[in-house]
Amino acid sequence: LTASLALSPDFVIAPVRRRLFGSFVEHMGRCVYTGIYEPGHPTADEDGFRGDVLALTRELGVALVRYPGGNFVSAYRWEDGIGPVADRPARRDLAWRSVETNEVGIDEFARWARKADVEVMYAVNLGTRGVQEALDVHEYVNHEGGTALSDLRRANGSEAPHGVALWCLGNELDGPWQTGHKTAHEYGRLAAETARALRQAEPGLELVACGSSSSAMPTFGHWESTVLELTYDQVDHISCHAYYEVHDGDVDSFLASAVDMDRFIDSVVATADAVGARLKSAKRIGVSFDEWNVWYQKRFHADPPVQWRTAPRLIEDTYDVTDAVVVGSLLISLLRHSDRVVAACQAQLVNVIAPIRSEPGGPAWRQTIFHPFALTSRLARGDVLRTQVTAPSQETARFGDVPVVDAVATHDRASGDAVVFVVNRHRTEPVELRVPLAAFGDVEVAEVWTVSDEDTTATNTEQDPDRVVPRQGTADVDDDGLVVVLPPVSWTVVRLA
Ligand code: AHR
Repeated sequence: LTASLALSPDFVIAPVRRRLFGSFVEHMGRCVYTGIYEPGHPTADEDGFRGDVLALTRELGVALVRYPGGNFVSAYRWEDGIGPVADRPARRDLAWRSVETNEVGIDEFARWARKADVEVMYAVNLGTRGVQEALDVHEYVNHEGGTALSDLRRANGSEAPHGVALWCLGNELDGPWQTGHKTAHEYGRLAAETARALRQAEPGLELVACGSSSSAMPTFGHWESTVLELTYDQVDHISCHAYYEVHDGDVDSFLASAVDMDRFIDSVVATADAVGARLKSAKRIGVSFDEWNVWYQKRFHADPPVQWRTAPRLIEDTYDVTDAVVVGSLLISLLRHSDRVVAACQAQLVNVIAPIRSEPGGPAWRQTIFHPFALTSRLARGDVLRTQVTAPSQETARFGDVPVVDAVATHDRASGDAVVFVVNRHRTEPVELRVPLAAFGDVEVAEVWTVSDEDTTATNTEQDPDRVVPRQGTADVDDDGLVVVLPPVSWTVVRLA
């Protein structure tokens, strides 16, 4: 098969936003305990943070981490996680039927984030709590000093405020599974008043209202419209969450998951703009895609937690090559929407549907999905360019006719580098892709990486952690531009310099 890609450095969508390379640490399963934090582990530092996981987090190129949930946050008392660890209570975590020891709280997480060099995105509990508790945690986290809660933080060892700029107003409150689930109207009013109060405390905060937990929710669309009618002037962004998996063995549709992500983002943007038009507002609402990934939810629902345990093994999905290609294609979709998607968090960082796995007392390793994320984060620089793909299409059961090739490109005016990120969704055929480059001047291929394998079910495991790694791809620049061969079921990045 053959395909072509048209692009020009003059057709810019938006600058690459570092916040697109976000992740998520929830108090869930082994993401925190034996994930980022494990005192006594051979690599643990003086604060109990695993050095191997910290190093992999940096290598992954994570810029932002959402914390502390997730469903967990909707019944969380943030003050359980501050002060002397010995005095902290153990509590039931209703979301994951677990016991939360509270050994890690906001001060520890902020310390970890500084070591990992990531920005913190903090979610407040609007499930069982409201305006006052949001103000309290904000005072503890961001207020300089001289008030009860800011002085308490200083007494607890965090002299400087944590300076969190990006705040989520609750989590997935459209979902009946959420503790404190609400109607759109109930939630919209609470979010508006919480936002108003937080802004009284600190006007410059960036605030994210909860959108839908997935585009398949029965309330999708109405939820966004109602919530934004009630919060438009108070919030900056609305969230999207989406998880993808193979349904009934339909791998072709799974490989085309980015089509769903594209439609999801476009629908939310259209809905937000329609509300803005009704309100005669020039303001534009951003999209915070603060949970996305491949997640085999069917496995979780078949085996939900029954006993109350601390840090149980929950949704520790092992990813294969196809999953990595889908993750790469979802990153293409997010980058393509850089004009409106202001932040995105792959859920989650360690062990829980994660690019990084770790064993208690044992090693940490990179899952297959680690690689497209790390490469995209490292290589996407400058501006995101508009692209026009011409490629054969194939029929999929879920999304109709879908082009077998999808792509996005970035261009860094300062260095002159142009980078093409491209996926071949065809299961058996390689694709020869041509990209005319006249508009980019004299460029050569500087690096080419491909994630693919003859065995698309290959995985990385504790025993064989580097079974799937990016391989050098095949690309050339001739008189007509770039020629790159995309293997079947592959994700490829080409840097031209
Ligand atoms: O990431 C796992 C869970 O998925 C989160 O807790 C929740 O917000 C979503 O449903």
